[in-house]
Amino acid sequence: MDVAGHAEPGITTKELDEVAETQILAHGATPSFKGYSMAGAPPFPGCITTSINEEIVHGIPSARRLKSGDLLKLDIGVLKNGYHGDTAITVYVGKPKPAAVRLANATKMSLKLAIEAIKPGARTGDLGFVIQRYVESQGYSSVRDFVGHGLGRSLHEDPQIPHYGRKGHGIMLQEGMVICLEPMINEGTFRLKIKADKWTAVTADGKLSAQFEHAIAVTSTGAEILSIHESERDFYLGPAQV
Ligand code: CO
Repeated sequence: MDVAGHAEPGITTKELDEVAETQILAHGATPSFKGYSMAGAPPFPGCITTSINEEIVHGIPSARRLKSGDLLKLDIGVLKNGYHGDTAITVYVGKPKPAAVRLANATKMSLKLAIEAIKPGARTGDLGFVIQRYVESQGYSSVRDFVGHGLGRSLHEDPQIPHYGRKGHGIMLQEGMVICLEPMINEGTFRLKIKADKWTAVTADGKLSAQFEHAIAVTSTGAEILSIHESERDFYLGPAQV
């Protein structure tokens, strides 16, 4: 069973991390996040980040037990054959609250819409614009302080790709580029705070946050989602929304 399948009430986030590590190593890969350094923070201790409810990203796996109704964001990075992969999902623990479902659905849709805008010649600002316009139309906000990014031999490469922006601005996409889009969408303000552990980002107003992330290759005609899960094919590869 995959990591998300283990996200049931009663399990700890540290146990989820152990599931992830076992599966990463079984695939002959290594966890990209473990020991990852960010300015001013200690090396990240987990293979995945586990962020619950008002936590936006970079939650550290711990002895905290999941409860029914928690909105859990799982982010995972792996290194294999010299290249990194990076993907994130939002999952419901037990029975979700309707507000959480609505937020998560809007976040996933914003990612789909941005992926549909990817093609050679499009600009990073076009992608941010699509995400921001959609989520704000749903009454939500898009986090400013963390961005999407290029992906390859390093986990975070240029260009930086904000999940907000203006059409026609930013770096032009070219065939062969691999990028990650990872919109973090908040119920309330986009402003955030970093907890005392120096990693966990939480919404400044304590309201919910959701995130989905995919690694995407720019192809001659559009985009190929490299991190797509079998269960997501109909959603992402179904009819374009526009
Ligand atoms: Co990423």
